[in-house]
Amino acid sequence: MMIYDADIICLSACFAKRLKRARIGRLPSELFYRCGIDKMLSPRFNERRDIVKIEKNFFDSKASMYEQLDERLAEIIGDGGDALSVLANASALLNLFLADINWVGFYLMKDGLLKLGPFQGKPAVAEIRPGDGVCGTAVLARATQIVSDVHLCTNHIVCDPDSASEIVVPMLRGDAVLGVLDIDSPRAGRFDEEDRTGLERFVDRLLDAIC
Ligand code: SME
Repeated sequence: MMIYDADIICLSACFAKRLKRARIGRLPSELFYRCGIDKMLSPRFNERRDIVKIEKNFFDSKASMYEQLDERLAEIIGDGGDALSVLANASALLNLFLADINWVGFYLMKDGLLKLGPFQGKPAVAEIRPGDGVCGTAVLARATQIVSDVHLCTNHIVCDPDSASEIVVPMLRGDAVLGVLDIDSPRAGRFDEEDRTGLERFVDRLLDAIC
């Protein structure tokens, strides 16, 4: 049984005890070592564990949510790692912070196509051509797209039938479109101008870190 670092932050002390009782693996101590549960005791890890305690809708306002999201993004950027690791953590962070979403992730431009990158949600279409779907539209327009009701959008590619609204933020650097951040919600009209501002800032900071 392999448990990766990304899983470790989701393990509560209570779950750790249950694992110990269940004796999954060989000796509990070996299991704990392999799971990296020892890391849970370090102050740094405890800070990280706070991330998973965040409850969606906990924030006073959307503005305060985006401020705290920025702070957490700075932390994961500070942790280092390559671009892929940072994008993977960024998608996890957005999934924790944003209420009412069912898909969040990145498509990265390669060989003239948007190719599926790190994401959270159901399996999705692997490649999108510029101009196709909401993602491809954002690439050609080089501007954020907000679709309040995807069922009314003729140029929408369905990935998750639960999706009702969507926001796509292009990842722009100079003349180049490096990819897009795509977020779906099961609620129509989920995304507004505040989301546009907050997410464009998020993408900008992300690109500052990985480019
Ligand atoms: N709906 C997107 C396709 C990607 S999935 O939502 C993850 C689009 O129309 O481009």
